[in-house]
This record gives sequence, structure tokens and C-alpha cells, in this order.
Amino acid sequence: MPAHGGLKVGLVGTGFMGRTHSNAYRQAQRFFPEETGAELVAVCSRDETKARDFAAQWGFRSHETDWRRLIERDDINLIDIASPNDTHAEIAVAAAEAGKMVACEKPLGRTPAEARRMVEAVERAGVANMVWYNYRRVPALTMAKRMIEEGRLGRIFHSRFKFLQDWTMSADLPQGGAGTWRLDADIAGSGVTGDLLAHCIDAALWLVGPVAEVSGMTETFIRERMHALSGKREAVTIDDASLFLARFADGSLATFEATRFARGHKALFTLEVNGEHGSIAWDLHDLHRLQFFSHKDEGALRGWRTIHVSDSDHPYMKAWWVPGLQIGYEHTFVHQVADFLAGVRTGEKRVPDFRDGLAADAVVDAVLRSARSRRWETVEEMLAPAGLQGVG
Ligand SMILES: NC(=O)c1ccc[n+]([C@@H]2O[C@H](COP(=O)([O-])OP(=O)(O)OC[C@H]3O[C@@H](n4cnc5c(N)ncnc54)[C@H](O)[C@@H]3O)[C@@H](O)[C@H]2O)c1
Repeated sequence: MPAHGGLKVGLVGTGFMGRTHSNAYRQAQRFFPEETGAELVAVCSRDETKARDFAAQWGFRSHETDWRRLIERDDINLIDIASPNDTHAEIAVAAAEAGKMVACEKPLGRTPAEARRMVEAVERAGVANMVWYNYRRVPALTMAKRMIEEGRLGRIFHSRFKFLQDWTMSADLPQGGAGTWRLDADIAGSGVTGDLLAHCIDAALWLVGPVAEVSGMTETFIRERMHALSGKREAVTIDDASLFLARFADGSLATFEATRFARGHKALFTLEVNGEHGSIAWDLHDLHRLQFFSHKDEGALRGWRTIHVSDSDHPYMKAWWVPGLQIGYEHTFVHQVADFLAGVRTGEKRVPDFRDGLAADAVVDAVLRSARSRRWETVEEMLAPAGLQGVG
């Protein structure tokens, strides 16, 4: 158990992210024992049976049906928000005001105004906080960040980011309700812009730096869907696809594309960064490989190389298996828990925090404004890029 006493977790939400987070707290203790002590104290779902079953399956000591009860409890010191986007601000602000540490899923708020309230609340209370931009903890991407900081790419000129899916293409899919809340803008805030593109935006802010201005375009291909709660056909208010051009504060240029209408693609998150001395490229479907080109290599041997990021020299990998064996998606959450606790212990910023969440929300907002105005829009809250951050 680390000196700070570890985490006493109160988790809100028993869906996709509720599972990844619960697994991460358990595994972080086993694979990063020097940093991590995490007790799964209580899980909250509004449905009593779901809450009880989830607690039994994942090893939580107790369950609640109202998140407010988690915040009232003295045996909990971290509120972890893994529920839909419309719940983030209210829970995070209440948790911070009660002096709890707060971990929140992305996007931080549905709007920059919500995110700003959340930042103010955690900073006023002085509580540790993080937002689950977990892709920073893919070892290959942590390594890419290191290589950029070491100057291996030199001055950056271009970058490009994509996140492609195809799961909402059927016109029969409803909007709203338990499984399809992402298709209701009241709950989600926006469509793919705040959902998929937010991951690309966070990666861009982290790897390249602050975005100054954007020119965006969104489309809603299916304009009416049945609403799962009202049972009526209603206008669809989310964006199904979102593309934008960006100019960074450093003068470099980027393109971004996210959609749920790219037939055949399930979670194709790809990125590429081109600098003066070299380039890197990465693909979530092959997440343990980093492509690297160095113009400094001897001319005749120059070419793209594939680095299999599985050696003990690589970020995080020493904690896992033997060189050559791979890890996957769930490990990114494990790494984030370990890094969060390392930050709590040292007082350093080791994970994306609420300010980073606000920075991403501000770019999302500029993209949506630009799509409406059909003009270039400036990013209102252009925040400094976060440092390396990682135990790796
Ligand atoms: N970091 C990532 O890669 C990633 C991936 C998926 C989702 N997310 C984010 O995680 C959050 C949750 O998404 P998900 O895919 O797990 O959704 P989900 O629909 O699978 O699960 C949401 C859970 O929240 C519960 N819930 C809803 N309102 C609640 C309330 N008021 N009190 C208690 N529980 C409540 C639901 O019952 C459900 O168990 C969203 O903000 C989403 O954007 C992030």
C-alpha cells in the first residue's frame, strides 16, 4: 500500500467504462504495486439488481442506487464518473465540494461552460482530478510523445487524425435511452465531435500543442429516428460525421475526421505526425506498433521502420510480460490508474486532468461553431499542452 493510503473508489456507472475502470483498479494493484492501492468500496447504478450484480462480479464491497450516497460516505475518497455525459458536471462538482478526488470520463463537459465549472470546482477544493483520455497510455503513443519531446521529429509541420466507426448506419437504430444515449444531443452534448473526435483532439493537443483556429464541417445523415424513451420519431440533433482543418499555435497544420458512417470500420483511430527530421504513425487496430521514419538515418537504408512496442525499454512494458508479448486496450486504463496514483504521491501532474478536458471541449466547441457559421473559428480557451506525464 503506498504512503498516501491509496484509492477508496466510489464508481458511478456499470456499463462499458464501468467495466474498464473496475478492471483497471484491480490490475493496477497487481502490476504496479509500488504505486497502487485501490479498494473498490462501492458502485452505483440506479437499478438495484444491476448494482448488486456488478458489485459481486467486480468485487465492490457494497452498492448504492443514488450517486449522492457515494459522495456522502466517509469510506470513499475518489468518485469515478463512468456515466453518460449529461451527468458529469453535476456529479463532479458535488464530489469536489465534498473534498473527494474526482476521475471523470470524457468528454469532460457537454460544453466548455460545463467543463469550466468542473475545473473551477476541483481547483477551488484542491482535489486531485483526472479525465480518462486513456489513449495517451497506449505504450506506443506514450513513446511517440517521448520521441517528439526528445526532438526526434524536429519542428512539426503536419498531423492528421481519424476515428472511424460504422455502428449507427441503420435508420432503424433508435436515439436516446440506455444503449443509444450517444444519439441524443441533450445527453451526449454532440455526436461524433464530442465522442470520437474528442480522442483525436486530446491526442493532438498532447502530441502537437494548442490549436488556434479551426474550419469544420458536420453532417447528420439520418435526420429522424425513433426516440427510445418517448417512443416517437424525433429530429436527430447529433452530428453523424465531423471533419475539420486546424491551425496550431505553432503554425503547423492538421486534418481531423470522425464518423460513425464509415462502413467496415469499427474503431479505426489513426494518427500521423510529420516533422522536419522524421515522422510517426499509429493505428489503434495495431496498437502495439509505432511506425517511425527518420531522415537522419543513413541515406541508402532510410525508410519507415516498425517498432514493436513490447520491450522492457518501452513505456510501461517492464511491468507486463516478456519482450515480444503484447498488451491491449484495457491496459491503457490500468496505466492511467497507476499514473494518477504516482501523481497523488509526488504532487506532479502525471495524467490528463480537468484542465486538459476543458482544452479538448474548447476545440470541440470551436468545430461545432465553425460547422454552423461555415467560417474559421478561433478556439476560445487555448491552453498550454500537457507535459510528458507517465510512469512508463
Ligand atoms: N475513454 C474512452 O475511451 C471511452 C469509451 C467509451 C465511453 N466513454 C465515456 O464514458 C462514459 C460512459 O460511457 P459508456 O460507454 O460506459 O456508457 P454505457 O451506456 O455503457 O454505461 C453508462 C452507465 O451509466 C449508468 N447511468 C446513467 N445515468 C446514471 C445516473 N444518473 N446514476 C448512476 N448511473 C447512471 C447507466 O445505467 C450505465 O450503467 C461517457 O461519458 C462516454 O463518453 C469513454
